Amino acid sequence: MKTLVVYFSRKGSNKYLAEKISAHLNCDIEEIKPILNVFFLMLFGMSLGIKKIKAPVENYDRVILCGPVWMGKFIVPLKSFVKKYSKKIKNLVFVTCCGSTYEKKDEKFGHGLVFKEVAELLKGKRVECHAFPIVLVFPEDKKDDGQEFMKTHLNDGNFSGEIKTRFDEFLQSLN
Ligand SMILES: Cc1cc2nc3c(=O)[nH]c(=O)nc-3n(C[C@H](O)[C@H](O)[C@H](O)COP(=O)(O)O)c2cc1C
Repeated sequence: MKTLVVYFSRKGSNKYLAEKISAHLNCDIEEIKPILNVFFLMLFGMSLGIKKIKAPVENYDRVILCGPVWMGKFIVPLKSFVKKYSKKIKNLVFVTCCGSTYEKKDEKFGHGLVFKEVAELLKGKRVECHAFPIVLVFPEDKKDDGQEFMKTHLNDGNFSGEIKTRFDEFLQSLN
């Protein structure tokens, strides 16, 4: 299956996952570049769209989209990508390294609501979503620290244990 990985990442965790997926599948990878890359504007949903993706999206059987969740929303650079290429996307896999846990996925800032938004945007297409909460790499004594998710980013030093097991299972499911 010909796969394209596209990602947006501000602090590197979703870039880390995107690069791991593309290395595993030995497939093309491209960064989503917002025309207006101003964090606070994007956080509040303001967007001028994204720059054109170089890869011909219609030539891929599957697009794997990686990016964070902010304020319980499918963030504008990711949404712009999906809207711009919705007709050309055949099959979308959305992957997020986010702050919300599996237990809180359906709460106001949970990734579960974002997953519903993605499915709605691509109604009628094959869509699957996977979350890898950053809390999985926190030390035991920091699991309840509300600020820890702002300070922690995925890297080779902390990518181990449950997150790695879950991610490896996900990679196997892609083959
Ligand atoms: C301003 C801000 C708001 C956030 N809001 C949420 C949220 O509502 N839900 C969530 O699951 N994670 C939230 N997060 C956590 C990010 O999704 C998480 O830190 C992610 O790993 C960052 O990805 P990146 O390193 O690829 O930029 C928020 C992070 C920031 C900076």
